[in-house]
Amino acid sequence: MVQQNRITARTNLLGLIGHPVDHSLSPVFQNAALNALNLDYVYLAFDISTGDLMDAVRTLRTWRLKGINVTVPHKEKIIQWLDRLDDTALLLGAVNVVVVKDEELVGYNTDGIGFAKALDFNQINLNGKQVALLGAGGAARAVLSVLIERGVRKVIVFNRSFERSLQFQQWAKNSFATVIEIDNWESFINGQSSFLSQVDVLINATSLGLSQEIIEVPWNGIDNCELVIDVVYNREETPLVREARKKGKKAFDGKMMLLFQGAESFRLFTGFEAPIGVMEKALNEALR
Ligand SMILES: NC(=O)c1ccc[n+]([C@@H]2O[C@H](COP(=O)([O-])OP(=O)(O)OC[C@H]3O[C@@H](n4cnc5c(N)ncnc54)[C@H](OP(=O)(O)O)[C@@H]3O)[C@@H](O)[C@H]2O)c1
Repeated sequence: MVQQNRITARTNLLGLIGHPVDHSLSPVFQNAALNALNLDYVYLAFDISTGDLMDAVRTLRTWRLKGINVTVPHKEKIIQWLDRLDDTALLLGAVNVVVVKDEELVGYNTDGIGFAKALDFNQINLNGKQVALLGAGGAARAVLSVLIERGVRKVIVFNRSFERSLQFQQWAKNSFATVIEIDNWESFINGQSSFLSQVDVLINATSLGLSQEIIEVPWNGIDNCELVIDVVYNREETPLVREARKKGKKAFDGKMMLLFQGAESFRLFTGFEAPIGVMEKALNEALR
């Protein structure tokens, strides 16, 4: 919990912007970390509609915020009002952290680091694996950058909008000189994609599952799949993780990714290494 009595006229303000944000657990674990290190900051959540985004970004300096996390649906749109992006945010074309540095708004992306550390936490080696990646948005781009770094053999992307799959494929070619396969969403759902029998790992980077939506996975068609990763997280298991575990597969959700991207955000905001144990404890308590 935030210790209200430590807030003074000099307390620094951090925040999260998105729409909606009331489900977010970032304020819980960011404030726990700030309190643990006795840093004079407070972290709040702001529900900003897309129509208000430009005004909100332009006034970050006016309100002397030190930094913000950015979540759905603003990660791409916000870029046009920032002064500078670091290399990762530039590569991914999406920003989830803005630091206000000497009046400059600098954009970063810590989702990839979050995903990479979640793989390490779960002792996952993806070298040589064939991966079915669901989704072609910002999270999918962060995930793909890590999959390539980790030496996967093949990636097949399935996305609801095929147009976006094509853009994603082109982006991967331009950014990593890598050719990824794409197939349409329906041929994933109905199990007809010829790629499915080769899949070792299934990763969901769509927003399905946030509100307990079920992804119709053709489990019989992906017999060889040994691992299921969901970037979505929920208070309970996500439906995908629940279903995968029932089928006897190793599976984990986006909770640790959230925590590790948050820890990296904390370092960018404050200059201090995040007390990860404190953050994890606060997150688990909030999820209970
Ligand atoms: N754990 C973490 O730390 C972490 C970090 C980042 C993101 N995330 C989660 O990852 C998810 C995606 O985020 P994002 O930034 O990539 O969002 P985004 O850029 O808006 O992309 C959303 C993706 O979900 C797909 N989608 C949405 N509704 C769908 C539906 N009804 N059926 C099939 N596909 C659907 C979209 O397909 P179309 O292209 O067809 O619209 C698109 O591929 C969110 O739930 C977010 O909370 C988690």
